[in-house]
Amino acid sequence: MALHGELQTVVERVLFDAEQLRGRVEELGAEISADYSGRQIHLVVVLRGAAIFAADLIRALTVPASIDFIAISSYAGSSKSTGAVRILKDLEDDIAGRHVLIVEDIIDSGLTLTCLTEMLQQRGVASLEVCALLDKPSARRTTVTARYIGFRVPDCFVVGYGLDLGQQYRGLSCIAEVPSPK
Ligand code: IMP
Ligand code: MG
Repeated sequence: MALHGELQTVVERVLFDAEQLRGRVEELGAEISADYSGRQIHLVVVLRGAAIFAADLIRALTVPASIDFIAISSYAGSSKSTGAVRILKDLEDDIAGRHVLIVEDIIDSGLTLTCLTEMLQQRGVASLEVCALLDKPSARRTTVTARYIGFRVPDCFVVGYGLDLGQQYRGLSCIAEVPSPK
């Protein structure tokens, strides 16, 4: 895949190109549709990173699906060790009794997802599963796992297809490694 100008200098390597992403999202959509046959899925999309993945995923589903969005703060300051997150924008709809599928961009330490799943579980869902586009298992600090995972990635910093570095590169149609901001 050709990258231009500034991108070519910042991107270290392309991990998954647009075609690979499209193919894997189709597979995930088919797998999820088979598992939820006869049920209606309620997608809970974690803003902002998962928005682009979710837009493709919902179109790959063959079962009825509704969609809602949540925005949470990353753990700041003293709460980092516990992974406590704050809700910045809550869901519009009640999720009690619904089959909720959280759509996340990437699971890194797992702290965000651990906290989010605990919060949503308390709202009386009928079922709760997670679909993450990317998984960085080597960085995990909790036991959280996702039932559906697009790709496993090494412990490096990736951007594109919704993922950002300082709010940039979300519009890249591939997933690429960039120098770690840490
Ligand atoms: P966790 O709580 O450490 O699992 O953090 C997950 C969140 O950190 C993701 O939803 C992303 O917003 C962000 N994140 C973690 N790793 C990356 C990366 O490599 N690129 C972009 N964002 C990342
Ligand atoms: Mg995120």
